[in-house]
Amino acid sequence: MMTMAAEAKVWRSRLIASAILAVVVFGGLGAGLAVGLFGPAAQPTVQIGGPFTLTDQTGAKLSDTDLRGKPFTVFFGFTHCPEVCPTTLWEMSEALKALGPDADRLRVLFISVDPTRDTPEVLSRYMQSFDPRIVGLTGTEQEVEAAGKAYRAYWEKVPTADGDYTMNHTASIFMMDGTGRFVGTIAYEEQADARLAKLKRLIAGT
Ligand code: NI
Repeated sequence: MMTMAAEAKVWRSRLIASAILAVVVFGGLGAGLAVGLFGPAAQPTVQIGGPFTLTDQTGAKLSDTDLRGKPFTVFFGFTHCPEVCPTTLWEMSEALKALGPDADRLRVLFISVDPTRDTPEVLSRYMQSFDPRIVGLTGTEQEVEAAGKAYRAYWEKVPTADGDYTMNHTASIFMMDGTGRFVGTIAYEEQADARLAKLKRLIAGT
């Protein structure tokens, strides 16, 4: 049994560990995150999250205000991603399964950073490989840009030798509470039990 202070300390060190990973993987995101997490306050103070309106894989609009009242996670990626996105979506599918009925108290969002290729139809096909509760989102370049800015997510288009392109992108999952407040991150390839523990805490609001 840990005291509240000890628990807060553990939670904070986890946040910092996530931040360090984020810094290592994506320096651009890290600067803002680190300032928030290493500041004098124990709570993360960095502004992550904000207004967005996007279109899901069924063609329906979804805005940040539709998410109020339930915690949610946000992951930015693209359907042509060779590894990070399918791995993350598969791991989140496994986490939802492991959460059992509690999974209904959580929303899981996947926002495409490649809206040119990722139409709602393409997303719809892609999302069939994963837990059906995961919501795939896309939009116009401007809509996706606005969502990325709100979450301080980073991505860039990288040309490939065959004349096509791939995307480098933020690999962390953002955890948000029912009021849309940033709670912390889940790092890419974080251990399954650590990921599950974070999601349980997010759902419990602790
Ligand atoms: Ni990816």
